[in-house]
Amino acid sequence: MSAPVVIVGVTGSIAAYKAADLVSKLGKRGFEVHVVMTHGAQEFVTPLTFQTLSKNAVVTSVFENGEWKPTHIALADRAALLLIAPATANILAELAHGLAGNSLCEIALATLAPVLIAPAMNGKMWQHAATQQNVALLKSRGVEFIGPEEGILACGYEGLGRLWSTADIVERAAQIIAAQK
Ligand SMILES: Cc1cc2nc3c(=O)[nH]c(=O)nc-3n(C[C@H](O)[C@H](O)[C@H](O)COP(=O)(O)O)c2cc1C
Repeated sequence: MSAPVVIVGVTGSIAAYKAADLVSKLGKRGFEVHVVMTHGAQEFVTPLTFQTLSKNAVVTSVFENGEWKPTHIALADRAALLLIAPATANILAELAHGLAGNSLCEIALATLAPVLIAPAMNGKMWQHAATQQNVALLKSRGVEFIGPEEGILACGYEGLGRLWSTADIVERAAQIIAAQK
């Protein structure tokens, strides 16, 4: 039996470096991992890091693909889970409003797989009414959230906004996939 496919969406948060550990752990757990990066994410970590850790090409653009079928649609069809970690305030807004301006948003629209989101951002951004309304809207559509947690944030503040532990994110991802069998 082939390994379940996990698509990991990485966005432009300072916590993007933790997604490298997450991808490594998912691979060790036996999942086939495909990483999709926003342009923002590529300011923090290179696609090469994720390509090496996931052992698969990284999707960085809707337009760079030599195949007849757009990469994002092919991946969206095969996914057992779409996991977005870390998720920025920006991607939450894009997903809540159904935007399709990058590969990650397109996959989110095109997939029937469950969606698990691990946000990471400044505490004020997380608690802003706009972000909270976007989260509520996404939850009402069945999207699951894990975190964020309290702690010292990279922006220098302390508060609710840290990425949840990668070990716990992997655990939850595995449970969601196991429940589909
Ligand atoms: C150093 C730095 C750290 C950032 N960290 C975060 C973060 O943790 N969470 C967040 O929502 N935005 C963060 N941002 C802002 C996002 O990178 C910005 O909103 C970007 O447009 C997000 O694009 P994306 O969602 O397409 O990746 C950070 C920006 C900088 C310069």
